[in-house]
Amino acid sequence: MTSLSHAELDKQTITKAYARWAPVYDLVFGAVFERGRHAAIAAAERIGGRILEVGVGTGLSLPHYSKDCRLCGVDISGPMLRKAQNRVAELGLSHVEGLWVMDAEHLSFPDESFDVVVAQYVITTVPDPEATLDEFARVLKPGGEIVLVSRVGAEAGLRRALEHWFAPAARKLGWRTEFSFERYARWAGRTGVHLVERRAMPPLGHFSLIRFAKEGGESFAREGLPRETSRAARAAR
Ligand SMILES: C[S@@+](CC[C@H](N)C(=O)[O-])C[C@H]1O[C@@H](n2cnc3c(N)ncnc32)[C@H](O)[C@@H]1O
Repeated sequence: MTSLSHAELDKQTITKAYARWAPVYDLVFGAVFERGRHAAIAAAERIGGRILEVGVGTGLSLPHYSKDCRLCGVDISGPMLRKAQNRVAELGLSHVEGLWVMDAEHLSFPDESFDVVVAQYVITTVPDPEATLDEFARVLKPGGEIVLVSRVGAEAGLRRALEHWFAPAARKLGWRTEFSFERYARWAGRTGVHLVERRAMPPLGHFSLIRFAKEGGESFAREGLPRETSRAARAAR
């Protein structure tokens, strides 16, 4: 856990920040995050089926998914999501099942609804990343994958010092600069998921593609292993 508390990045700050970003988001963050988005889409398509994109934003990634997938998207920001809805309508993206204003930490989908949960550049913007990841695991089918592209903070050195120095300003813009990989590893260690891949992503390798697989699915069912998927089951451990 970092010394900065969860509460410092609250939902009101985030919704305000992304209401401001919405008109210019594509211009500022379209190209710079493109490689990360394409890597996440490729990873998600390897599993295919029904895919949930959390923090879908203006929907930049939606046209790039194969038309064989069924896509659902959620975002806490109405102005960002309206851009995504316009994109879906303008481009006639029939593989998009629906887009909803929804909080990543409280998804209103039943357990085991999706084959893949994708979140690109989102985990460092939510107030409670671990609770949000719990929610991703809950709505994921056994054998499915969580595919993240996310900023990973430096563990030491000048970059770490700069990230911590810039942290208060970054929060006002709507994200964290410091977020260690150790937090992901610790989270996975206490849930029914395991790390499949971590790969550095541009710009400057400060971001990573991170994939987690949820235990279960056919191979686990055959072995008679339990399917502990709900948040309640994990909390009771
Ligand atoms: C940096 S943008 C990334 C947008 C998009 N995924 C992309 O690749 O460009 C972060 C997005 O996460 C959304 N977000 C932040 N906190 C959220 C939450 N608690 N629940 C749902 N979406 C959230 C923001 O509104 C914003 O659209």
